[in-house]
Amino acid sequence: MDYASYLEIERLLALQHPRSDPEEHDELLFIVIHQVYELWFKVLLHELDKIKRDFSSDDLFGAIHTFKRARTILKTLVGQLDILETMTPLSFSAFRSRLETASGFQSLQFRELEFVLGYKRSEMLRHVDPGWPGFDRVQRRLGQPSLVDHFYDFLAQRGVAIPHELRDRPATEATRPDETVQRGLLDMYRRAPDVAILLELMTDFDEGLQEWRYRHVKIAERTIGGKPGTGGSMGVEFLKQALFRPVFPDLWAIRHEM
Ligand code: HEM
Repeated sequence: MDYASYLEIERLLALQHPRSDPEEHDELLFIVIHQVYELWFKVLLHELDKIKRDFSSDDLFGAIHTFKRARTILKTLVGQLDILETMTPLSFSAFRSRLETASGFQSLQFRELEFVLGYKRSEMLRHVDPGWPGFDRVQRRLGQPSLVDHFYDFLAQRGVAIPHELRDRPATEATRPDETVQRGLLDMYRRAPDVAILLELMTDFDEGLQEWRYRHVKIAERTIGGKPGTGGSMGVEFLKQALFRPVFPDLWAIRHEM
């Protein structure tokens, strides 16, 4: 075994095909950034699946360890937008038409991430083709308990009462904030400092995802302004709808009580 065969470097390097002709210099960067994002999304999904198992088996330190990693990956994802922001609107316009209707909107792994985190916007699947590779995975995620459902398992094992309505709701529904859970979380903050470390990491992660959304709106705004998205949405106005929406709403609802 050697480096290139283990990592399949030649196959990896053969995957970038700019469509502009003559080739627009920045298109290679645009392709590589998106490919790198998809690789990180793959790792994040892998880590979040582990956290689900950690939660259900009451492995606090396992979950802490992995949330630290997931939070750090998110920071890297946010930081990468700095590189893409060196691409000017003029440069992007030179090849944007070659994307045709392709858009991050259709990133099935991003949708998987939202679903695993409990942000189940099933209507988003209307914008993707059931024949696309990966559709079965995203569809499966929609029907699976989210990380938040596994978090309820964890809390229940630590003595927090989880209301039946939350437990019995269809798995395809998004997480909803709940006052009983919030009271339980406050109690954890007060009497379980080890669990409090986890709760702060989850808050960091949630903040990181919101930070990504904000930076993504800004890069879209500075690069395409008020133009519609290539994926068919209104563009920036559509993206703004998900801004500041937490995936762990109960953790944000109790800050003023501490
Ligand atoms: C010049 C850079 C970029 C611009 C102008 C841009 C623009 C947009 C626009 C307008 C949308 C709305 C959907 C549509 O109608 O197309 C969108 C969605 C999206 N983009 Fe980007 N984007 C950029 C870079 C990126 C990068 C680097 C990623 C990384 C994967 C990304 C991932 C996404 C995702 C996941 C969505 C769906 C968001 C959601 O449903 O909430 N975008 N983008």
